[in-house]
Amino acid sequence: MTTTIPVDDVDLFSDEARIDPYPVYDRMREAGPVVHLVRQDLFALTRYADVRAALMDWKTFSSAKGVFVDPGINAQLEGITLCSDPPDHTMMRGVLGRPLRQELMRAISSTIEAAADEIVTRLVARGRFDAATELAEHLPMTVVSELVGLGEGNRGKMLEWAEAIWNVQGPVNERFTASGPLVGEFLDFAANEAVPGKIEPDGWADQLYQAADRGELPRDKCPVMMLDYVTPSLDTTILAITNAVALFARHPEQWELLRADRSLIPHAINESLRIESPVPQFSRVLTEDHEIDGVALPAGSRVALLYGAANRDPRKYPDPARFDITRRPSDQLSFGRGEHVCIGMNLARLEMSALLGRLADEVAEFEIVSARPLLNNGLRGLESLVVSVRTP
Ligand code: HEM
Repeated sequence: MTTTIPVDDVDLFSDEARIDPYPVYDRMREAGPVVHLVRQDLFALTRYADVRAALMDWKTFSSAKGVFVDPGINAQLEGITLCSDPPDHTMMRGVLGRPLRQELMRAISSTIEAAADEIVTRLVARGRFDAATELAEHLPMTVVSELVGLGEGNRGKMLEWAEAIWNVQGPVNERFTASGPLVGEFLDFAANEAVPGKIEPDGWADQLYQAADRGELPRDKCPVMMLDYVTPSLDTTILAITNAVALFARHPEQWELLRADRSLIPHAINESLRIESPVPQFSRVLTEDHEIDGVALPAGSRVALLYGAANRDPRKYPDPARFDITRRPSDQLSFGRGEHVCIGMNLARLEMSALLGRLADEVAEFEIVSARPLLNNGLRGLESLVVSVRTP
């Protein structure tokens, strides 16, 4: 059976679609299981079951030719953990994930809780603050950047580099082009400066080289693998925290629920990630001809997995745009699934949980004073969210 694939000439990377992609996602989801985005020649999946099935099938939906949009960047970043398949992927992920194991996360939880306590107390006392730059950035920038261990002087640079690297994950547009020099600067830094002796001994970055010395990893993989730590460890979590505050500000009755029952915090984290995916998409390349819900795609097609659309599929989540922390959507796809499921999700959950817990102690209600969306090709959320808070 041959089914015609609906075509859409929307640019998912335009300012408009970055700010509010949901009407476009709804349109595409209803048009068919696969929609051909002609501008970038991507075959987009928007339905929950299809995105999940693709994530679980790395043999057919391969990451080895990159997971981004632009062929040049996909070629340049080939070989990072994110852009590889087993067995290479298994080898790299084993090393990369070692400092992020759950038991090690438990060991740093008291540091994270103390930092959350300090920042929440300070900001709430002021009554008004920017939840993006003052609250959400605090834990990633104080605790996580130290764990990555690129050296004190480079911690501030991490956010700038990461933002640029996320921007080149989209098509060659203005944001992509403007980010080129910073990406070049980072790659140069990773090759020449982020090396043993110049970085924190025993930080995550240094541990890559230690693994190489033990023969667990080819040494020439270490510089590119810095990308796997630097790109996703900060902004993703910053956006997730900011989104959660914005959602609770807009839904005070949900905040009331959470304050009354702290066991809802893990569910609130999943629900806020479901409603607003900080990483709205990655892609895969088909290794063979493949049929998705009766739609045949040839080998070599680049398939975009729209996590942000799948998470709002009404087939999976009734009334999907409704923020409801009692929904308990532990199967939401914002951390991906399968072989490449986010390696830092325990850390991200720990940070979010510490902050929400302390905010629940100190804040009875949030009011949004102003919000400004982040415009980035790979990330979605708010770059500023000024809130005023009412204390209990
Ligand atoms: C709320 C915060 C976060 C979100 C929404 C998020 C999202 C994601 C997603 C969607 C993937 C799957 C990629 C794919 O399917 O190809 C992923 C993978 C990954 N994430 Fe996260 N992430 C977050 C936090 C973090 C943190 C804190 C770290 C590091 C400390 C991290 C490191 C990674 C790495 C290294 C991968 C690649 C894993 C692999 O390819 O096997 N992430 N993340």
